[in-house]
Amino acid sequence: RHTIHVRKLGTMESISRVGVVGCGVMGAGIAELCARAGLDVLVGVSRPASRDAGRARLTGSLDRLVGKGKLSARDRDAALARISFTADLGDFADRQLVVEAVSEQESVKLDVFATLDKVVEDEHAILGSNTSSFPIVQLGGVTSRPENVVGLHFFNPATVLPLVEVVGSVLTDASTVDRAEAFVTELLGKQVVRTKDRAGFVVNALLIPYLLSAVRMLESGMAPIADIDKAMTLGCAHPMGPLSLIDLIGLDIVAAISESLYLEYREPHYSPPPLLSRMVSGGLLGKKTGRGFYEYPR
Ligand code: 3HC
Repeated sequence: RHTIHVRKLGTMESISRVGVVGCGVMGAGIAELCARAGLDVLVGVSRPASRDAGRARLTGSLDRLVGKGKLSARDRDAALARISFTADLGDFADRQLVVEAVSEQESVKLDVFATLDKVVEDEHAILGSNTSSFPIVQLGGVTSRPENVVGLHFFNPATVLPLVEVVGSVLTDASTVDRAEAFVTELLGKQVVRTKDRAGFVVNALLIPYLLSAVRMLESGMAPIADIDKAMTLGCAHPMGPLSLIDLIGLDIVAAISESLYLEYREPHYSPPPLLSRMVSGGLLGKKTGRGFYEYPR
């Protein structure tokens, strides 16, 4: 019941064992989605503190669903029981699909992919990345199987927003993209937009310049934080204003995507505004650190 069957080269294979590397905001959301879909989920963390924080995130999110009457306590316990943690990526040997969701640092991502390539035994396993900043071809390039490497780009909060961008690089097999899409739609119940392996994919290439414009507007003194947000929520029916959204995404993430867009296209509207860079340097990363454009009392 909890298995997806997808066709590859005429043979049936099933995906029931997935791995998620990283258990921050996105990794925890993706792990929760997979566990609620009935999959066996192994979460890779770098240290015990990340495991504890990740487990707390997952438990808190599932508890909230139980509190709202959207999930039974039994289903919450069953989902949690399907999730285990490891600090050793060697334990990913039997995984059939992996989603990497570690921090957006090039060396860390490349290490993860090089290691997964060595340890994951199934030659058809899909190696996915939730990256929003790095070319998928570069991640595939450190493996011996770039044909199986795809972008699987979720949106924050991953448990709520229905879209996943599926990104094939110039080295990805078309069948890998098909299988990744089948996994996301049939098993996770999300919708897919396929995009090319270009900085920002579709969503961030449109969203980030808008968010950066809001920071520039704030810097110029045109309107205060709350008014900029109010203008877009009340004037355009956006669920949240741009500065709140930057806080939700994380200022560091927005800055990283901005850098990658600027590097690719060299267009000024993609470049990170100084205020954003300074706030990142000051550790004001948004909701996850308790302070960004707004404060988030713990
Ligand atoms: N985790 C799980 N569920 C959450 C959640 C979270 N962090 N935040 C909100 N929810 C759920 C709530 O439980 C609620 O569910 P219900 O309606 O079924 O009871 C539902 O989402 C709506 O939440 P609330 O009523 O509490 O609050 P809002 O109506 O204000 O919604 C929001 C919050 C879902 C965050 C909404 O404001 C929203 O969609 N904002 C836009 C977010 C967005 O644009 N994200 C994309 C960012 S881009 C990105 O991630 C890509 C990356 O590469 C940068």
